[in-house]
Amino acid sequence: MGSLNRSRIPFSAAGGGSHHHHNHTLPVFTRAHQIGALALVFATFLLTRAFDRLSCVFPSPAPLSTGRSAASLFDRAGALSWPDRGYGSGLDLKIYVYEEREVDGLRELMRGRDGNISPQACLKGQWGTQVKIHQLLLKSRFRTLKKDEADLFFVPAYVKCVRMMGGLNDTEINQTYVKVLSQMPYFRYSGGRDHIFVFPSGAGAHLFRSWAKYLNRSIILTPEGDRTDKRATSAFNTWKDIIIPGNVDDGMTTVHGSTIVQPLPLSKRKYLANFLGRAQGKVGRLQLVELAKQYPDKLESPELKLTGPDKLGRTEYFNHLRNAKFCLAPRGESSWTLRFYEAYFVECVPVILSDQVELPFQNVIDYTQISIKWPSTRIGTQLLEYLESIPNEEIEGMLAHGRQVRCLWVYAPETEPCSAMVGIMWELQRKVRRFHQSAETFWLHNRTIVNRDLVEFQKWRMPVPLP
Ligand SMILES: *[C@@H]1O[C@H](CO)[C@@H](O)[C@H](O)[C@H]1NC(C)=O
Ligand SMILES: *[C@@H]1O[C@H](CO)[C@@H](O)[C@H](O)[C@H]1NC(C)=O
Ligand SMILES: *[C@@H]1O[C@H](CO)[C@@H](O)[C@H](O)[C@H]1NC(C)=O
Ligand SMILES: *[C@@H]1O[C@H](CO)[C@@H](O)[C@H](O)[C@H]1NC(C)=O
Repeated sequence: MGSLNRSRIPFSAAGGGSHHHHNHTLPVFTRAHQIGALALVFATFLLTRAFDRLSCVFPSPAPLSTGRSAASLFDRAGALSWPDRGYGSGLDLKIYVYEEREVDGLRELMRGRDGNISPQACLKGQWGTQVKIHQLLLKSRFRTLKKDEADLFFVPAYVKCVRMMGGLNDTEINQTYVKVLSQMPYFRYSGGRDHIFVFPSGAGAHLFRSWAKYLNRSIILTPEGDRTDKRATSAFNTWKDIIIPGNVDDGMTTVHGSTIVQPLPLSKRKYLANFLGRAQGKVGRLQLVELAKQYPDKLESPELKLTGPDKLGRTEYFNHLRNAKFCLAPRGESSWTLRFYEAYFVECVPVILSDQVELPFQNVIDYTQISIKWPSTRIGTQLLEYLESIPNEEIEGMLAHGRQVRCLWVYAPETEPCSAMVGIMWELQRKVRRFHQSAETFWLHNRTIVNRDLVEFQKWRMPVPLP
């Protein structure tokens, strides 16, 4: 923990237990609110400095123990000195993970209405991130058990899996989320700005129907940066949310020991390119299947089915995938595709044919070094000719870069120096704020946080009103 020990709440206990409804609504937050708050903070710094110069004792209110006063943003000479914490070279954050038993409704979001869906069953497959991230956070050195010292709050839910297994329907998911949020005074306090949710599938936060009303200030972890084909609004916001890698089969990402299928040398690969997925009636995918019929020696793209003899088994799938220099990744139901991540573990160069895709960790990864993105409107002979024109040395260069970077796609334990979690933690670190506010949060001279009725935070009654 760094010197800037933010104690946000001047009380240790959170929330009263009795039920009492407040009936005001939480208005929309505007830019003006934020600028206003910033101006206030700076005015405070200036005032504090003025007091210092006059040798006045600026009283530090007893109930708060902030290691650093606001004025310490300035050095002795009065120059702005930005804190290292969160901006320097070390991770330094505290995440509170809500307990299943703690909030009524969380259990349903994790195990279904009858509580009989096992997290173990939800751990596998491309949506396993919803469980993996939660489990890794529980063991993380960045976890805190104290809400009043947390920088961020993680709300566990396995709704993608629970919904698929019939554990909750869309109506129930929506209602249960709302019930859960209304029992979280800290969510209310920040308007949700410091609360983290995972939505592991192409639907993104749309899994929670009223997400736009309740979660539109929160931090959403999702592999999907787009959902513009089926809905008017994308549930992803580049500046607030975090793109996470999809969950590649554990058998292929083994960090120590051997994977179920190993890469082939370039010279041994039978095809120039492949696409090994179901067409699902999608234009780009159908074009690839047709192209493969035209160039069967260059492009492997069989018509695959979800079940039956035309379905590939797990090992068989990776054995096919590794047999081309380029792995084509066209969009399917949505923009993101697991194929993109899988390509790195059989060491073929991924060719993205999904125009709206958003990729993870763009603050550190230059995707031109490790992949190709080709317009989805130009799937045809020209694409194959282009790929054929790329010399093997260039391909080897891209694969070498890919080998270095791919550890960032692996949901490995924190003992690994490079993993998807490290990438996510760095992204989260940059979202930590020292100060939180919402349109329904107010504060007094003695740094007490109150609501509109001037009730101190510790006495806020549940359910707290939501927007
Ligand atoms: C969802 O499930 C609830 C409870 O089982 C049921 O009452 C409701 O009709 C279902 N809604 C839909 C849309 O299936
Ligand atoms: C979601 O649930 C809330 C609370 O029950 C309700 O007000 C809202 O209309 C629901 N949203 C949808 C899309 O059904
Ligand atoms: C967030 O929610 C508020 C309150 O419902 C709404 O007015 C606003 O338009 C939403 N913002 C976005 C980006 O959806
Ligand atoms: C802070 O000030 C308010 C208003 O004067 C008072 O009611 C409250 O008890 C004070 N809180 C603390 C912790 O001193």
